[in-house]
Amino acid sequence: MSTPPPTSTVAVIVVAAGSGTRLGHGQAKAFVSLGGRSILSRSLDPVFALREPAQVVIVAPVERLAEAEQIGRDAAGAASAHLTVTAGGASRQESVARGLALLESTVSVVLVHDAARALTPLAQFEAVIDSVRNSGRGAIPGLPVSDTIKRTDRAGLALETVDRSELSAVQTPQGFPRTQLDEAYAAAGTEFTDDAALVASIGHDVSIIHGDPLAFKITTPWDLRRAEQVLQPTPGLVLPRTGVGVDSHAFASILSGDSVPSGQSGDGAGTPLWLAGLFWPGETGLSGHSDGDAVAHAICDALLSAAGLGDIGSTFGTSDPQFSGAHGEVFLTETLRMLGASGFRVGNVAVQLIGNRPRFAARRTEAEAVLTGILGAPVSISATTTDGLGFTGRTEGVVAIATALVYAV
Ligand code: CTP
Ligand code: MG
Repeated sequence: MSTPPPTSTVAVIVVAAGSGTRLGHGQAKAFVSLGGRSILSRSLDPVFALREPAQVVIVAPVERLAEAEQIGRDAAGAASAHLTVTAGGASRQESVARGLALLESTVSVVLVHDAARALTPLAQFEAVIDSVRNSGRGAIPGLPVSDTIKRTDRAGLALETVDRSELSAVQTPQGFPRTQLDEAYAAAGTEFTDDAALVASIGHDVSIIHGDPLAFKITTPWDLRRAEQVLQPTPGLVLPRTGVGVDSHAFASILSGDSVPSGQSGDGAGTPLWLAGLFWPGETGLSGHSDGDAVAHAICDALLSAAGLGDIGSTFGTSDPQFSGAHGEVFLTETLRMLGASGFRVGNVAVQLIGNRPRFAARRTEAEAVLTGILGAPVSISATTTDGLGFTGRTEGVVAIATALVYAV
C-alpha cells in the first residue's frame, strides 16, 4: 500500500466487505463478475475518474485483501498512489468506520460508496461533492418512490399506506463534511443501514439531491441480471460500416520511357491528367485502362468494401472495353448505384493522395466539391509527399488511400 499524497481534500470510502448472502453466489459480492469484470472493479471506474484526485479507501473482506488491492491498482492506473485497502468489519457501519480511520489529515469531504452500486455514474459523485462543498451539509442521492408503500405487520398483513410523496429511495455515494462524519461515528451506538441516518442521529441536516436509476444496488440475482443487461449494447443498434481502398497509378511518361514528369511541360505520352475527378491541364497523365484517376478508384474500393460488395477490379473488369479511358465519375456513379441497390447510403469519404505531382492544395476545395457532388455525401481529400522516398518520392506515380463510412437504410 502506498501513501496518498497529502493534497487530496476528498476521500471516497468504497465498502466492499459484505458477504452477498442475498445474491447467493457463495462468495463476497464485490468479487462476483459483472459483464466480465468484478463488481468492485466496475464500481471504481468513476472513483478514479473524478475531476480532482481523491484518496480512495477500499474496505474488503479480510481474506481477500490482496485481490482487492490488485483490483484497486488496476482501476487506479496512474493514480495508484491514492489507494488504500483495509479489512472490513461484521456490519456495514463497522466497515465504514475502519475506512474512516485511515483518512489523510488533508481530507475535508468524505464520500461513502457501496461497491454493490457498481454502475453509479461519475456525475453522481461530482454532484455529491459539489453539494457538500456548497452547503457544508451532508448530501445523499435519492429517487422518488413510485410504488405504493404499505406498512406491514410481522405476519405479512398489510397495514396503512405510507404517503410516498414524503419518501425517497436513497443511494450512494453519500457525502459529508469530514468533521460531521467523524463526530457521528465517534458517537455511534446503534447500527444504521446508511451513513446519513448516523449523521442525522447526532442532529446534522442532510440534503437529498437527484439520484440516478443506474446507481441501483445489486442485491439479488435479478439485480445482477439487470446490471448485465444495462451493459449490453443497445438492442437494435445498427452500426455503420467502414471500408478502405488503395489505388496506385504510374505516370504514363514513366511507362513510355520518357523522363520523369516535370509537371510543366505536358510531356510523357501526351496523356492528359485526370485526378480526383478534375482535369489538370499541363500535367503528365497517369497510365491505366481507364483515365488512371487513383483517387476516384480508391474511393470506389472503399465504398465497395464498406458495403461488402467486393472491389473495383472484380466489379468493373480491368480490361472491359466500355471502360477504356472512362473518367472517375463513371465508376463512382455505378458504385453508388450498387450500394443503393444493396440498401446502403454513403456517410462520408476521406481520401489521402500521396505524390509529388500535381500540387494538390490549390485545387483541393474544387476536387472535394466535384466528388461530394457525385456521391451526395461529404468527401474530404488531403495530400502529402513521401520525403523523396519510394516511387511516389521519385515522381513515378501516385497512391490514393480512401476510407468510407456507409450505413444501411
Ligand atoms: N458491506 C461491507 N461490510 C459489511 C457489510 C456490507 O462493506 N460487513 C458493504 C457491501 O460490500 C456492499 C454495501 O456494504 O457494497 C451494501 O451492503 P449489501 O448490499 O447489504 O451487501 P452484502 O452485505 O454483501 O449483501 P447481503 O446483505 O445480501 O449479504
Ligand atoms: Mg448486507
